Amino acid sequence: MYSLRSFFFGQWSSSERLPGKTVIITGANTGIGKETARDLAKRGARIIMACRDTAKAEAAQKEIIEDSGNQDVVVRRLDLSDTKSIREFAEAVNKDEKHINILINNAGVMMCPYAKTADGFEMQFGVNHLGHFLLTYLLVDLIKRSAPARIINVSSMAHSWGTIRLDDINSEKSYDTRKAYGQSKLANILCTRSLARRLQGTGVTVYALHPGIVQTELGRHLNTPLKIAWKVVRPFTKNSMQGAQTSIYCAVAPELEKESGGYYSDCAPATCSTDAADDEMAQKLWELSCKMLGITWD
Ligand SMILES: NC(=O)c1ccc[n+]([C@@H]2O[C@H](COP(=O)([O-])OP(=O)(O)OC[C@H]3O[C@@H](n4cnc5c(N)ncnc54)[C@H](OP(=O)(O)O)[C@@H]3O)[C@@H](O)[C@H]2O)c1
Repeated sequence: MYSLRSFFFGQWSSSERLPGKTVIITGANTGIGKETARDLAKRGARIIMACRDTAKAEAAQKEIIEDSGNQDVVVRRLDLSDTKSIREFAEAVNKDEKHINILINNAGVMMCPYAKTADGFEMQFGVNHLGHFLLTYLLVDLIKRSAPARIINVSSMAHSWGTIRLDDINSEKSYDTRKAYGQSKLANILCTRSLARRLQGTGVTVYALHPGIVQTELGRHLNTPLKIAWKVVRPFTKNSMQGAQTSIYCAVAPELEKESGGYYSDCAPATCSTDAADDEMAQKLWELSCKMLGITWD
């Protein structure tokens, strides 16, 4: 089974090293985030694993330290479904860290039953988009001072499943698990474009990506038929290590140094949907996100 996967998804390879660089990865206790952390630790970076479940994160941290030989891997608590937790995390990072060279907004929740975050946002939009939007806002000055620096938003091909529902952003009138996930991942790409424009000339570049169809814990909320289908297609999907390659590529590839605002898949530029290239909607989403979070970010 592994050889079939290897046949379809060769591993991207680069000898790029990251000594003296600090990386934050959200949702690094499992799946794609954990493998991204493992790879970047092996390249010599200081890794901050920003995780909600710290016990699970500490087990992953131990494994990564043993595997990489890099002792500079730390866990910090971050719950993206609670702006109080996001602010506490960012405050500690701004106080304790001299620089942040790479921020990987990786954590995500997919197709969960309807729920709201601590601040009353629909869960998928709240965690996948608004949580990361606020986190980036709170860290952006430190990231700018650390330039050259990169911000990576892990989106999905599922961005084409949804639209930005400006009239019902929290899906209060109607909730479709799949469309709500699509909306949150579309928001990731739109904000990547907006942020890249705002950061022009600062030495901070921004990327959005689709990691592939990857066997992780992401399917935890799927219904039984979908869980079975997920297992059936398993040989044709990526494992977590293969799924991390495009995140790693966007984080370290020297050829991307002058690129910003793009969308990537399989370690190469990719085409996103027409909706994801709508700069007018990107601006509306930016303004709405700021309003919902009570922040001013021009
Ligand atoms: N797997 C795929 O096929 C696929 C395809 C396209 C895009 N993606 C994207 O890839 C990213 C990584 O997903 P994955 O496949 O590695 O899934 P995963 O194994 O389920 O990992 C998701 C991570 O996000 C964390 N997370 C969820 N809610 C959080 C919250 N409120 N605060 C902080 N962390 C939270 C989880 O932490 P806990 O362990 O504490 O829940 C976990 O560490 C996601 O953005 C996903 O949308 C995945």
